[in-house]
Amino acid sequence: MRRVYNFAAGPAVLPLPVLEKARDELLDFQSSGMSVMEMSHRGGIFDTVIKQAEAGFRKLLGISESYAVVFMPGGASQQFAMVPLNLLPPGGAADYVDTGSWAGRAIEEAKIVGKVNIIWSGRDGKYMAARKAAELRFTPDAAYVHICSNETIGGVRFPEFPETEAPLIADMSSDIASREFDFNRFALIYAGAQKNLGPPGVAVTAIRRDLAGRCPDAVNVFFRYRTHIAEPSLYNTPNTWGVYLFKLVVDWMLELGGVAAMQKRNEAKAGILYDALDASPFWKPCADKEARSLMNVTWRLSSEKLENQFIKEAEAAGMVGLKGHRSVGGIRASIYNAFPPEGAKALTDFMREFEQRNG
Ligand SMILES: Cc1ncc(COP(=O)(O)O)c(C=O)c1O
Repeated sequence: MRRVYNFAAGPAVLPLPVLEKARDELLDFQSSGMSVMEMSHRGGIFDTVIKQAEAGFRKLLGISESYAVVFMPGGASQQFAMVPLNLLPPGGAADYVDTGSWAGRAIEEAKIVGKVNIIWSGRDGKYMAARKAAELRFTPDAAYVHICSNETIGGVRFPEFPETEAPLIADMSSDIASREFDFNRFALIYAGAQKNLGPPGVAVTAIRRDLAGRCPDAVNVFFRYRTHIAEPSLYNTPNTWGVYLFKLVVDWMLELGGVAAMQKRNEAKAGILYDALDASPFWKPCADKEARSLMNVTWRLSSEKLENQFIKEAEAAGMVGLKGHRSVGGIRASIYNAFPPEGAKALTDFMREFEQRNG
């Protein structure tokens, strides 16, 4: 068996102990004589799994009972639509911060539902900066404020989160549980699981319970948060395998010491990479220093030809997934929670050697 260093942006590397446990439990889950994917989502065994997944997630982020936690299909993309459908009332307006491609997708969906105020945009700086939270100016009476905490494509993040009067909503798909933050500042957060929380096919949303009741009746039943809260994540057949793996990943993080331990691990990994990038003008890191992501490290070389050579040679050396997003090109190393620290060291060793040959 060969395991590579997987720098993919998502679906992404999963913790090896999680994969091993899933393998061991695959054929006969908890003496049921079947796998977790083959059993009823309403039976006792899966009921315990999904409750443990939720409880672990609450513990990890410090989410109180004032919030509902629901698992849904449709990824973060469905949440881009559900947020305005549920929370942007007819005649109302919502504030959005335009930090990059994913914030852009959220804005596109919100505009279909109602009025959107783009209160800051990184477009002029090619989305390589993130606005300092303290400098944001919010619109009085906004229904909510939406941010993307970490832009996966540009590799920029909110260094710190704003305090808002209106409910604060965040797409945390690519940095959830990677750094400590005060959860109570948010009214709603959501994430696709496939970067820091598990496999693709599951999204998780935590929503303050009082907000869930605001959804207009004109919205289809499936797209109301309150539907998924009333029948806790079981309104339709959930991705049982995905929820099970989500639980294993959350357990793995808790065992290692939770978000504080993840942050330490991530700062160390990202530090190794950014130090290497800053050490020589051969490398051209993309993101503004103050907005650099701990999860997605992006850089360029002097030509696309050299970038392609770098990506190809890295792959031959067992380091895969380094190609930048197709919309921007360049190189991107995604180093989510499960990415092993040795992988960051291996990449920088390879970078030094590559520079010696091509610098
Ligand atoms: C920050 C962010 N938001 C949203 C999405 C879209 O997620 P999904 O494909 O789960 O709909 C992605 C996907 O990479 C992302 O990185």
